[in-house]
Amino acid sequence: MPAGVVDAAAKGVKLERHALLLRRAAGAKQLVSASSHLLFRATVLATLGLVVLFAVHYPSLLSHSFSLSALPASGSRSSSSSSSPRSRHSHRSLLGSGTSSSYGWGAAWEREVRRSAKPRRDGALSVLVTGAAGFVGAHCSLALRARGDGVLGLDNFNAYYDPSLKRARQRLLASRGVVVLDADINDAALLERLLSAVPFTHVLHLAAQAGVRHAMRAPQAYVASNVAGLVALFEAAARHADPQPAVVWASSSSVYGLNTEAPFSEDHRTDRPASLYAATKKAGEAIAHAYNHIYGLSITGLRFFTVYGPWGRPDMAYFSFARSIVAGEPITLFRTADGADARRDFTYIDDIVRGCLSALDTAGKSTGSKSGKKRGPAPLRVYNLGNTSPVPVTRMVAILEKLLGKKAHKRVVTMPTNGDVPFTHANVSHAARDFGYRPATSLEVGLRHFVDWFVQYYKVDVRGGGNVLAGKTAKRKSMPMSAAS
Ligand SMILES: NC(=O)c1ccc[n+]([C@@H]2O[C@H](COP(=O)([O-])OP(=O)(O)OC[C@H]3O[C@@H](n4cnc5c(N)ncnc54)[C@H](O)[C@@H]3O)[C@@H](O)[C@H]2O)c1
Repeated sequence: MPAGVVDAAAKGVKLERHALLLRRAAGAKQLVSASSHLLFRATVLATLGLVVLFAVHYPSLLSHSFSLSALPASGSRSSSSSSSPRSRHSHRSLLGSGTSSSYGWGAAWEREVRRSAKPRRDGALSVLVTGAAGFVGAHCSLALRARGDGVLGLDNFNAYYDPSLKRARQRLLASRGVVVLDADINDAALLERLLSAVPFTHVLHLAAQAGVRHAMRAPQAYVASNVAGLVALFEAAARHADPQPAVVWASSSSVYGLNTEAPFSEDHRTDRPASLYAATKKAGEAIAHAYNHIYGLSITGLRFFTVYGPWGRPDMAYFSFARSIVAGEPITLFRTADGADARRDFTYIDDIVRGCLSALDTAGKSTGSKSGKKRGPAPLRVYNLGNTSPVPVTRMVAILEKLLGKKAHKRVVTMPTNGDVPFTHANVSHAARDFGYRPATSLEVGLRHFVDWFVQYYKVDVRGGGNVLAGKTAKRKSMPMSAAS
């Protein structure tokens, strides 16, 4: 073979080898790129899998910044109002995402809320109770739960009176499976979320700034809770719940103000309030009329008359008198300008609770819808819930003295004209007619229950008349009397 041909053949072989090498290199590159894509996808999938597993197994870690009050609350927790920026922030953050349920913490929170609100028997109610850590709210929540209704509570734990008592009530409710959220009724976003997430059949609205004379020191608190808060509640119930719940809410006997006709009937005048507290409750009744008229909300207002009993309110006369008697401090009693003792229609808590539950049971349905259309008129009711037998405050003190085994140091002054009224006396015939309300507890019996609780809760030693406050009341300073609220 000529040498030129051999050279050409050798060159051809080299070229072929080179091309082969190039093809192999390209194949390897393709292989590497394909496998790195695969690796990337596998890594992404594994990470997502881990996130899902974490969310399912540790929802509490993801929601740690939100205060779910069903968790044991400690009496030593901060006494600040939950309308504080911290708690408001918590709920805002929670609600900040419109799709909270797609996150672990949202799902966990909603589960707790739904579990608490879920009725335990067929035909039972599902009730949102505002002010559930309060005196009447805690009792009503327990009674509703005991008969198998679903209950979700809400309270801002403000410091109007000792918040550790509210926390203790909250713990009691938690032990019966009732969640009480740390929340303010003015948190419209939270209310909207709750009422759209849970099909509440009823709202029992008890959250309010109570107390007659405190209104002169903190008027804005009354406007915030009793007027703005009531509007926020009605707005949420009328426009964000589907179907709309029926609302039962606490007005007050104080709306009768300067009315002198007795016993006080729902037909009497209520346009002369004697305190800002009374004025805000009266405003609430007018606001209720508007929401019933426009949105077809079923609304029942209950005018409570001086409620007392175990787990009561430390700012009220019977409670603060008991504390002062035990501590050996003086108490101030009011006498009217014509020398008569102030009298109150003291109503025992169990009677009030029965009235509240009967009002819920007979409330009748709302007729409105989220779209703003109403099918027809909805029930709008107002009832007195009292005891029908006014007792002089001096008699109430005498009963306490007997039960506590110690005399009170009494100071009698003329009643100032800054909120209190000389007497209250309920006519309850409307409540009796419409839902069988019949108060059944005498002041003697009711105060005995109160004192039993009081000495146990505050560890008061009443043996031999020598009262010793072993517990929490000992260091507290005396509170002003507020017999009517
Ligand atoms: N106890 C009575 O003698 C009496 C008499 C007439 C009317 N009322 C009314 O009955 C209802 C219950 O009274 P109570 O004696 O149980 O009082 P309470 O003060 O013990 O209960 C009210 C609860 O509402 C909470 N609250 C106040 N403002 C709030 C807000 N903005 N957001 C969320 N929670 C808030 C408070 O922290 C409190 O726990 C109130 O509306 C009160 O005005 C009570």
